Amino acid sequence: MKATSDWKRMKMEGERITMVTAYDYPSAKQSEAAGLDTLLVGDSLGMTVLGYDSTVQVTMDDMIHHAKAVRRGAPDTYIVVDMPFGSYHANEDDAVGNVLELYQQTGANAIKLEGIGCLDIIRRSVAAGVPIVGHLGLTPQSVGVTGFRMQAGTHDAAMQLIEDAKAVEAAGACMVVLEAIPSDLAGKITSTLSIPTIGIGAGVDVDGQVLVYHDMLQYGTDRLPKFVKPYADFNTAGVEGLKAYAEAVKAARFPDEDTTYKRKVFEE
Ligand code: KIV
Repeated sequence: MKATSDWKRMKMEGERITMVTAYDYPSAKQSEAAGLDTLLVGDSLGMTVLGYDSTVQVTMDDMIHHAKAVRRGAPDTYIVVDMPFGSYHANEDDAVGNVLELYQQTGANAIKLEGIGCLDIIRRSVAAGVPIVGHLGLTPQSVGVTGFRMQAGTHDAAMQLIEDAKAVEAAGACMVVLEAIPSDLAGKITSTLSIPTIGIGAGVDVDGQVLVYHDMLQYGTDRLPKFVKPYADFNTAGVEGLKAYAEAVKAARFPDEDTTYKRKVFEE
């Protein structure tokens, strides 16, 4: 399993970091078998697994429940777990308490927080011994304010994002996710920071990439964001398999000889 200290080393050696989201035992098991460097139990599970229209409804209990399953499925992979909306916004002591709870209960290797309003929480969590991942650019918990669109498109906003990224590093984060920002800006931030940047919709000039499992494998998705490249089509494979099963049942072709128990008949 990778350690937190490996991230800076990989950045220095130019080895790109692979990350994918995982939300349950099978997705974690597959990702570990595929050799991903790190998994993110993203609060995107609110949309991909629970069917909400945003991440805002996701709770601490949801994150703990799913992260524990991911840990069981990927015992030997570095796991980052998202702090959900509302769990670090009201008061700082409760926020740090929630970071510690999520870390302790799930067996996570690091905890991720979105935005720039949580610098003190990052400092206190790192001081308490919890590796922290930052998340800047498009921060899905704030889409009610920002909308789901590219961020930092103007010169001023880009300059501000560079300062924000430096502040997240200075607060003690071990890496930072950059979501939906112009690629040249992501490249600038990447060369400015000594911690790795993990891009999603941030171009190729970053230190690693993360994609949402259900997007990249087309699993329950209707349409994909511009920055997603599909690597498999579980939607089609799943529907084909289910149709074939239903047809076989209707036609009494399932169960067949091979899938039926038989009683041994003993001669009297
Ligand atoms: O929740 C999530 O899946 C994320 C990724 C978009 C980085 O935060």
